[in-house]
Amino acid sequence: VSSQQRQLLALHERVRDLYHHILMNTKVGEEALNYLHERGLNDELIEEFNIGFAPNERGFLVQVCQQDKIETAVMENSGLFVQREDGSFNDRFYQRVMFPLNDPRGRTVGFSGRLLVSKDFSGENQPKYLNSPETELFNKRQVLFNFDKARNEIRKQGEAILFEGFMDVLAAWQAGIKIGLASMGTSLTEQQIRAIERLTSHVILAYDGDSAGLTATERALRLLTDHSRLQLSAVTIPEKLDPDEYLRKYGAEELRNLLQHGRQTPFVFKMNYLEKGLNLENENDRLIYLNELVDELVKVQSPMEQDLYLGQLSERFDITREGLKQQLKQARRSQR
Ligand code: UTP
Ligand code: MN
Ligand code: MN
Ligand code: MN
Ligand code: MN
Repeated sequence: VSSQQRQLLALHERVRDLYHHILMNTKVGEEALNYLHERGLNDELIEEFNIGFAPNERGFLVQVCQQDKIETAVMENSGLFVQREDGSFNDRFYQRVMFPLNDPRGRTVGFSGRLLVSKDFSGENQPKYLNSPETELFNKRQVLFNFDKARNEIRKQGEAILFEGFMDVLAAWQAGIKIGLASMGTSLTEQQIRAIERLTSHVILAYDGDSAGLTATERALRLLTDHSRLQLSAVTIPEKLDPDEYLRKYGAEELRNLLQHGRQTPFVFKMNYLEKGLNLENENDRLIYLNELVDELVKVQSPMEQDLYLGQLSERFDITREGLKQQLKQARRSQR
């Protein structure tokens, strides 16, 4: 670790604790704390994850750094500031609920700030979540939210659940599900897949139930199938909800139940996914559907599982097993 890295880590820790203090103990943080409580997050969780609040004042951290005699180069490389043309600094994060992003050892290396829209703030053109930019410490292709806290439990339980948003990870945590991870708003990377593989061989995808979430699930399944040997399943959250909204609406017990018993194999997920965009009463759509599914069937490793789906498709679409098997052979040849 270079001296610069040490200083950056120290600054992140200091800033994290400061934002956390503002949220928990000051008038300035009151609205944000109410917001989190209204979203159903309790103080125990807020403490555990060191959630904080960045006040609506763009010179706040700048002043703290001046008092602490932080070197300009460190400020510049921290990602916590934006520099004006004249070289002076502004806080990057303001009027946001601050979620620390940690490395696998639990050291804070960046932040994601959620916009808190209030009466005295016109943040309409701002993104809902703002992340730290890439820095010497923070690489968003590497970070998995909650990896540091979940790793032991993932090893113990033999599985990890991947959520789309880190608010879903937090909601699940509060419902007693402590094996949740999330990437920071990007699709999974090789590095993240490798990190997960070192902990477990089973991953459950539980992305948002809206169409963006379903598309992301389909993409993630493909990525994970092509780039890992992980055993995969996918849960579709009903009513286009995300796991956090589902928890709010139906309670912790129901969320646990869904994540446990709502698991679909990748093939079954793909079956349901494809069906949404097609009219299976129509011959043309039916053939598109079957062709796609046969391509998908090639990827199913287990002969027993393959046979199960062959049987189902044969029955449902009134095609002989023999015909389907021939098609499967053809597909296998052309995929090679
Ligand atoms: P979502 O919009 O589904 O987040 O985006 P969410 O967790 O449901 O947020 P709430 O409940 O409205 O607070 C999923 C993820 O995409 C990234 C974030 O990492 C988020 O967790 N994202 C989303 C961004 O980076 N920027 C954005 O403006 C929005
Ligand atoms: Mn505390
Ligand atoms: Mn979403
Ligand atoms: Mn969501
Ligand atoms: Mn949400």
